Amino acid sequence: MRAWKVVFLYFVVLNAAVHYVTSLEEELADSIFGNFLDPLKDLFNHKDDGNATVAKFSLRKPSHPDDDLCYITPGKPESLAACTFNSTSKTFLVIHGWTLSGMFESWVPKLVSALYEREQTANVIVVDWLSTAQNHYIIAAQSTKAVGQEIAHFIDWIEETTNMPLENIHLIGYSLGAHVAGFAGSHATNKVGRITGLDPAGPDFEGEHAHRRLSPDDAHFVDVLHTFTRGSLGLSIGIQQPVGHVDIYPNGGSFQPGCNLRGALEKIANFGIFAITDAVKCEHERSIHLFIDSLLNEQDAAKAYRCGSNDMFDRGMCLSCRKSRCNRVGYDISKVRKPRNVQMYTKTRASMPFRVYHYQLKIHFSSKVNISEMEPSLTVSLFGTKDEAENLELKLKEKIVTNKTHSFLLVTEKDIGDLLMLKFKWEATNGWSASNMLKMVSSWWSGDSDRANMEIHKIRIRAGETQKKMVFCVKDPDAQNLTQEVTFVKCKDAWRTNSKQKRISLDSH
Ligand SMILES: *[C@@H]1O[C@H](CO)[C@@H](O)[C@H](O)[C@H]1NC(C)=O
Ligand SMILES: *[C@@H]1O[C@H](CO)[C@@H](O)[C@H](O)[C@H]1NC(C)=O
Ligand SMILES: *[C@@H]1O[C@H](CO)[C@@H](O)[C@H](O)[C@H]1NC(C)=O
Ligand SMILES: *[C@@H]1O[C@H](CO)[C@@H](O)[C@H](O)[C@H]1NC(C)=O
Ligand SMILES: *[C@@H]1O[C@H](CO)[C@@H](O)[C@H](O)[C@H]1NC(C)=O
Repeated sequence: MRAWKVVFLYFVVLNAAVHYVTSLEEELADSIFGNFLDPLKDLFNHKDDGNATVAKFSLRKPSHPDDDLCYITPGKPESLAACTFNSTSKTFLVIHGWTLSGMFESWVPKLVSALYEREQTANVIVVDWLSTAQNHYIIAAQSTKAVGQEIAHFIDWIEETTNMPLENIHLIGYSLGAHVAGFAGSHATNKVGRITGLDPAGPDFEGEHAHRRLSPDDAHFVDVLHTFTRGSLGLSIGIQQPVGHVDIYPNGGSFQPGCNLRGALEKIANFGIFAITDAVKCEHERSIHLFIDSLLNEQDAAKAYRCGSNDMFDRGMCLSCRKSRCNRVGYDISKVRKPRNVQMYTKTRASMPFRVYHYQLKIHFSSKVNISEMEPSLTVSLFGTKDEAENLELKLKEKIVTNKTHSFLLVTEKDIGDLLMLKFKWEATNGWSASNMLKMVSSWWSGDSDRANMEIHKIRIRAGETQKKMVFCVKDPDAQNLTQEVTFVKCKDAWRTNSKQKRISLDSH
């Protein structure tokens, strides 16, 4: 892709971000826009520093995760001993991305610490290519291959010098660093064990041939977390297409909880453009923090589920674990190598530990008359053996239609244990459309009013984390109607629940 094209698209992306924000808070539009133009001028004026790319390999110590105390120099075996490189241990190469500041970002020591926390005897090497990465984006992106080749030489040299099996080498690259890792893997003489791509960069790589970006060919196992895959014209900060053996899209790969642009907007008045940069960074960097979480909270590993699309996932239709359809997020992911480009989804909390508990609710709404286009607000409270989660909203992906089974995804932040009971609430007041109103009025007019009721017989639930399936029936069918909260308990006898009496009428008046 030509440089001017990238600059143009970069401009479009920033522009889209501006418009998104200004639609929230119109009055700030002008000042934001002015602020956006300045860094773009810089882009055009930036001097080309040439192609000097010298990657440095700093073996960090668990006691000093933030300090570069010892560099390993290819061609100098004594540097391995001097840095107490353990050639029988796992070796991680942490590869940073594009940088505005020219300095390591604050996630680097956090990731180093987390890696040592999990693998005490490991060698955690931070690859320093800051001098190249601080060029403007296009130059940095075009240098990823050269930097990757340098790392490949380093890997070849380590293998020759120490006879270390390359299965022990795990490259972890963030943003542009993910593509650097890809080039390092593809240029190394033998294949490394694993590459983890943390929100691989999109601009200049999206849609490119597998040889020009991170791809499943670059290591025995390539796993990818996508956290900022949105933008205009298909161009986004993080790459949207799957580029590994397993590609996980937490929260659909965009709009990470806790990284709200609105919050950034409030800061814009004081911090200008950098407030937006913060929000962007929060979502882009979320990939790293999800990975750190997986290192630190092994027992709370989040699960991701294979799904055809994020929309289907949001309807709860993909919570099965059969035939390796689900996997752990992050470090402990199972290596599924055969099928290429497995796309998986998960929801997360706004902070660590990020895991949530996923449930699919299948509800059949039935009625004798056609009641269509209903958009009630539905809330559910779950009561389990350990805890409860109250007033969770069931997000409607489509209007409720008579005699149709609707499927919903529900998540809880807490582990409620085994589900014992649930309460269901239907509030129709705000969602009535005019046409629906007319239908209701005409059914009253024709004396059909007592038949104009929606009914729910039972609610089927599948828990993603435990893979348990349950059927819930109305606890007390005679006493309740849906103007109240209705309690459902586990059906005692799955066959008897088909009986006509065991149903609950949704009072639609
Ligand atoms: C750029 O790379 C080429 C070939 O690798 C080399 O000959 C040249 O000296 C480099 N230029 C600079 C400015 O380092
Ligand atoms: C090197 O690592 C291995 C395991 O990976 C461990 O058993 C050994 O004690 C380590 N050696 C040193 C000197 O730390
Ligand atoms: C819905 O299904 C029930 C039972 O099969 C039937 O009696 C009823 O007429 C159907 N309602 C509509 C609107 O088709
Ligand atoms: C309900 O609507 C569907 C299509 O909208 C129609 O096929 C069906 O016959 C209707 N049923 C009743 C009972 O009006
Ligand atoms: C539903 O419950 C409300 C509140 O208890 C009550 O006022 C209403 O009459 C009930 N409707 C039906 C159809 O039973």
